[in-house]
Amino acid sequence: MSHTITVSVSKRATQGSTLVVFASKASGKKSVATPKLSKDLAALLSQAESDEIFSGSKKESLFFRAHPTDGFDHVLFVGLGESKSVNGDALKTGAATALTKLRAEKITHFEVLGSSLTLGQKDSAEAVQAFAEGLYLSVYEYSELKSKPKDDKKKNKELHATIGFDQAPSAAIKKALERAEIISECQNFARRLGDSPGNYMTPTILANEAIKAAKGTKLKVTVWDKARIKKERFGGLSMVAQGSAQDPRFIIMEYKGAPSSKKHVAFVGKGLTFDCGGISIKPSSSMEEMKYDMCGGANVIATMVAIAKLGLKINVTGYVPSTENMTGPAAAKPGDVYIARNGKSVEVFNTDAEGRLILSDALVYASEKKPAAIFDIATLTGAILMALGNHYTGVFTRDQKLMKDIQGAADAACELVWGMPLDDFHVEDMKGTHADLCNISGNRLAGSSTAAAFLEQFVDEDIPWAHFDIAGTGWNTNNRFPYHPKKCATGIMVRTFIELAQKI
Ligand code: BES
Ligand code: ZN
Ligand code: ZN
Repeated sequence: MSHTITVSVSKRATQGSTLVVFASKASGKKSVATPKLSKDLAALLSQAESDEIFSGSKKESLFFRAHPTDGFDHVLFVGLGESKSVNGDALKTGAATALTKLRAEKITHFEVLGSSLTLGQKDSAEAVQAFAEGLYLSVYEYSELKSKPKDDKKKNKELHATIGFDQAPSAAIKKALERAEIISECQNFARRLGDSPGNYMTPTILANEAIKAAKGTKLKVTVWDKARIKKERFGGLSMVAQGSAQDPRFIIMEYKGAPSSKKHVAFVGKGLTFDCGGISIKPSSSMEEMKYDMCGGANVIATMVAIAKLGLKINVTGYVPSTENMTGPAAAKPGDVYIARNGKSVEVFNTDAEGRLILSDALVYASEKKPAAIFDIATLTGAILMALGNHYTGVFTRDQKLMKDIQGAADAACELVWGMPLDDFHVEDMKGTHADLCNISGNRLAGSSTAAAFLEQFVDEDIPWAHFDIAGTGWNTNNRFPYHPKKCATGIMVRTFIELAQKI
């Protein structure tokens, strides 16, 4: 886990290479809003404004090369958008915009005017955290499988950012930076797991990555092999794994940050390391994207590591059922029936609806431990893409209080969630003909809701539960957010889950 950027906070430097100044658009007016600037900076900005080359809009930047100002060789202005809507997302977007420009200008060392980041935000520690996360998240790339450039000049340069304040930074600001580093390092770890191709990210490798990442933390990791999975009556996970040459794994990560309390929260993530659909095989177009079918599992693993590294005073357990879905000679056939850990029988009419099978046993197991809440996360249905596209993660729960907590956590983390319907109609659609349940609905409509209704059959009724479908948001096909690099896993909901675990 390494960054190609180091970020620090300190008292403002009086000289250096590049000074980065953030500016927003004053609400209702056309003028640019900044904190109090030096005479030189203010003059530069006001000239840019009257020349109509800078207005403070989101994703806007203006670079002055070799224009000595306030002791710095160069100056970069970056827009944050409307002052009143400067939030964590705007600050992260600002970080990404600044980095794009600085990299193009071959700048490796820069100083950010700290007071310019806190515009529109009362709590500057929060702003520093959001901005620093934006820097760390923006430099992520998955390049480990590319041959190393021989030419030294082409090698990735380490970037150095300092956020400078008028006074020595407070303990709260220093802590915020530490938090940002842990959280984004873990989110980038989730992305790396997701971006790794199927042959480099088998269930065994995924489990080993969880063990490795937990080293030096208070996490206890337990990994079940194929025999144990069968012995524990995980009929769904065993059936999906039948078609693959790779053995399945069930990963359990336990964190006890509040040992005197019995209360704990459970996260369950789909760790399908490659989904070709099984016998109900998928079309070959875009099938390579199905290496991302373990993003839910990766994001749970990363959430657990982050919670442990942050040392949160809560108890949390992560569960990741992991397998490939392939067409080997022993693969499940359409119509086959399995018995899940809770004794319910399921006929598998479509072997491509496998995520719900491996999650069924994991949800039963998680329920047995009586957590205060269960959250599962999965690249579960193509239908969620039709409903919500690439921006919003679909959330399914019947528990309105829980939905409130989820929305609050997502807002705090600046991630987008949308509540989706789940009711008895959807459950009705999942009844089996010759078994208790069928793994696909009788009609093709509301596919994400019927999938959620299926999962619900494996959660203890008394336990608050929500299902997160990240099939549209788990990886970036659209470059929606500039701090999610193009074509990479996003690590979505890691930040929301860290917040959420603390709300239960
Ligand atoms: N992993 C897929 C869901 C998926 C599809 C994720 C596209 C991201 C992009 C899942 O296992 C699947 O294939 N689901 C089927 C279910 C159907 C057969 C009821 C689907 O959504 O088509
Ligand atoms: Zn599938
Ligand atoms: Zn799948």
